[in-house]
Order: sequence, then structure tokens, then C-alpha cells
Amino acid sequence: MELNRRTVLASAAAAGLAATALGGTAEAAPASGKGRKPVKELFGTLADGTKVHRWSLENGGTRLKVLSYGGIVQSLEIPDRHGRYANVSAGFDNLDDYVASSPYFGALIGRYGNRIGKGRFTLDGRTYQLSVNDGDNSLHGGAKGFDKRVWDVEPFTHGSDVGLRLHHVSVDGEMGYPGTLRVTVTYTLTRHGDWIIDYEATTDKATVVNLTSHVYWNLGGEGSGGIEDHELRIAASRYTPTDSGLIPTGELAKVAGTPFDFRRAKPVGRDIRAGHPQQILAQGFDHNWVLDKGITARPEHAATLRDPSSGRTLSIATNEPGLQFYSGNFLDGTLTGTSGRVYRQGDALCLETQHFPDSPNQPSFPSTVLRPGQVYRTRTVHSFDA
Ligand code: GLA
Repeated sequence: MELNRRTVLASAAAAGLAATALGGTAEAAPASGKGRKPVKELFGTLADGTKVHRWSLENGGTRLKVLSYGGIVQSLEIPDRHGRYANVSAGFDNLDDYVASSPYFGALIGRYGNRIGKGRFTLDGRTYQLSVNDGDNSLHGGAKGFDKRVWDVEPFTHGSDVGLRLHHVSVDGEMGYPGTLRVTVTYTLTRHGDWIIDYEATTDKATVVNLTSHVYWNLGGEGSGGIEDHELRIAASRYTPTDSGLIPTGELAKVAGTPFDFRRAKPVGRDIRAGHPQQILAQGFDHNWVLDKGITARPEHAATLRDPSSGRTLSIATNEPGLQFYSGNFLDGTLTGTSGRVYRQGDALCLETQHFPDSPNQPSFPSTVLRPGQVYRTRTVHSFDA
């Protein structure tokens, strides 16, 4: 019988065993249904004296460490098929590296996930110039996006759930965006070990919003090497090709017959060197997949990622219409990760649930406009198994 994580954890808990007795690296998670109250500790201090805290929470066999800086997931530990835990999210062990050189490791992204062409858009007849920080374009909210803000963090336990509510007020004009945007992001760990992200925002002027999370996954454990053997399935028949600045051309191209076809699970590395012109522009995969389900009232399946050697499996469900799959192309061996190992190209990958890049300039894409009186609400569910 192939043990899955729940049977391993349940039997370890029943036998009063620590996961170390199963050959793991840390003690067993509390029995399912008993989440631990989030615990706060000092992580570091910013140059202006602001203290940054790290919150640790655990439920249903999943362990999460979150920074008040950027809402960053600094560590996310899940067991393998033998109950052995590993941190499957790339990051750093200190605040200075996050401030100085993070390529958005684990961070909350806003106001706009991915790129806006020329950092410019027109809304209700007015043109807004945003902070440009990626060639000619604005990426992930501009030079000081939500990933570089200190969030107010409020822990909660609710029934069998534990979690954190993160609040940020982005003032009118910040990074060029109109309207004061009040944002709450809720991280919930359920008794099954699912990690749910709820994004909520309101504005006092018409604006555009596209929030996401930038976890870099390596289900073998961060620092353990490349993700080319990970098997990926994306429930999408089309993707959005880009120009050389990675701005969508507006076309929704079919994945059939191209390296972009992940409709059936395949190793990430299988077609990564196929030399498709779109891959050459992006130095790998760095595209938005158009999820077949479209925008849904509730989260529906978007992608599954599995590491065959550890058995660790991640399933992502969302109500968003798009998924940016980025194969860690710009990791270049210059950053030293949490466990002291250097990250090279393809040592982790991102699966960012979102509206499509550059939607404010693409009338045929689903709208990212938020108006006063409306509430922006999206949810992404990460489920783990082994
Ligand atoms: C996103 C983008 C990539 C890259 C990473 C961060 O995934 O699409 O092009 O900017 O973020 O390095």
C-alpha cells in the first residue's frame, strides 16, 4: 500500500511517535484537527528601525512561517511519503537578503501581479503612469510593491482553522496607481493541512488590481536541486504568448502540439529545451496559462505539481482565470537560500494564480478594474499530499 501523508501522520500520532521515528527530520505534527496558535518572533529590523516579525503556524501536517515584511512565506514544510518534512519554498534565512536581493521569494504581489506594458494604462479617459521596474514595463506592482511593505498581521484560530490576517493600506497614487486600496490577505491552514489564501480589497477611486502569491516551489525541498523532474499538469488549452518584454500580444494561443501543453502531467524538463520561439524569449516557461474553467464562483482545479522521488504533491485550485507558470529562469547561482545552498536556474518554480498580465491594456482580457463600492475577492487553495 502506498501511504499518503494523512495515513502516515494519523498512524504516527496514534502510536505517539515522533516523525523522527519514521526517519523524518522533525517532530510529528499535532493530530489532525488541533492546529497550533500562531507564534510570533522577531525576524529582523529594517534600516528605518521597523521591526519585522515571523509568525509560525501549523495545522493538519502543514507548517508555515510568514514574515510581516511582504507577507512572505519564509518556509512551508510538508511531509514526504515517509512522513519526512522538508521546506518546499525557496527563500532566505535573514531579512537583509529579502530586502536587498529577493526575486519575490514567497511574497505577496500587488497591486498588480505580473507586467503592465510601458507601466501605463488608461481608465475612464485618464492615463496613469506607474513605476517602471522591468525594462520598459511595470512588474509586480512597481519598484516598491506589496512584497516590500510591512503588513499588519493579526493571528486567528477559528474552529479547526488557524491563520493570519494581513492588512495593508496602499495610498492613492502609490507606485502611480489611483485610489486608496485597502487590502486584507488571509492565510488559513485547515485541519487537512490545506493552505488557503483569500485576497480582499476595496478602493475609493476606480483602479486596477491583480493580487497573487509568489512562492517558489521545490517539492524535493528548497536547495535540493532542480525541478525538471517535477511532473506538472495545468488545466489549460491556451496560453498568452508575449513579446520580448514578456507583455502578452493579446493572442490566446493553443497549447496543443507545443511545449506549452501540460494538459496531461509531464515532467517540467521534458520540453523545456524544445526551442519554441516563446521559450527563447522567456528563457524557459514564463507565461500565463488561460485556465479552461475560466473565472469561477468557487476555486476550481488549476494545476497539480508532483515530485516523483519524494511523492510530495501540490494541487492548486482558484477562482482566478489565469496561472503564471515561471520555471525559475532568472535564478543564476548568485543567491544563497534558506538552508545555505545556492539557487541555480530551474531550482524552483512559481505557479501564480491571477488575472492575465497587462489586462489594463488588453480590452479582450477579463477586466481587472475595481471601482468604489465593489469588493475584490479571490481565493486560491493549495492542497498537499504524498
Ligand atoms: C514572475 C515573472 C517573471 C519574473 C518573476 C520574478 O513570475 O513572470 O518574469 O519576473 O516573476 O523573478
